Amino acid sequence: MAVRPFVVGVSGASGAVLARRCVEMLLARELPVALTVTDVAAGIWQDELGTSLSQDLAVWGARVRYYPAEHMPAPIASGSYRTRGMIVVPCSMATVAAIAHGTSTSLLTRAADVCLKEGRRLVLVPRETPLSAIHLENLLRLARLGVRIVPPVPAFYNHPTSLDEVVDFVVGRALEALGVPDGLPASYRYVQEEP
Ligand SMILES: Cc1cc2nc3c(=O)[nH]c(=O)nc-3n(C[C@H](O)[C@H](O)[C@H](O)COP(=O)(O)O)c2cc1C
Repeated sequence: MAVRPFVVGVSGASGAVLARRCVEMLLARELPVALTVTDVAAGIWQDELGTSLSQDLAVWGARVRYYPAEHMPAPIASGSYRTRGMIVVPCSMATVAAIAHGTSTSLLTRAADVCLKEGRRLVLVPRETPLSAIHLENLLRLARLGVRIVPPVPAFYNHPTSLDEVVDFVVGRALEALGVPDGLPASYRYVQEEP
């Protein structure tokens, strides 16, 4: 992988469609992806999307390097392997807690810990409602460390007419936080920018 990849972590919260769209939007911009998915997330992927993770990986081919989150030995576990940052989408409250407390017991949480220690961008798309004080305290702890917290909250000013549009907006905003150029398509902006 010549160009440094973006790491995409997928944990076991509802919202597999956000994860799949995130990978698709990075690939559409010809940006390489290192993907790590927890066991629970792979089950939710099948359940919510009706296709297995393996099927989607087969479609993406070599453009996506896949590392199961339960298998620690992988380049993204090391700070010496350079990446362009990491997004965890969707991010469960269990994974928020693990990242906030540096437990690094899975490849996913270790890769996030690497971003923190190396000062690389880390974006979380936390999916839970309502949020308890524990959830909020963990998120605040991470926000104070510079982690971008981008919950999957739709906007209504662009008058979405489909779930796809809502998903694209949510993922686009998260990709912008990750530093992806034109992460959010122009048509989703509140005010169209001057050329
Ligand atoms: C179908 C299903 C949906 C879930 N949705 C959420 C969710 O939206 N948010 C959340 O924080 N946990 C959710 N959970 C619970 C997490 O999967 C659980 O805490 C798990 O330990 C997370 O592990 P992981 O973050 O390592 O994937 C869900 C579990 C299942 C089975």
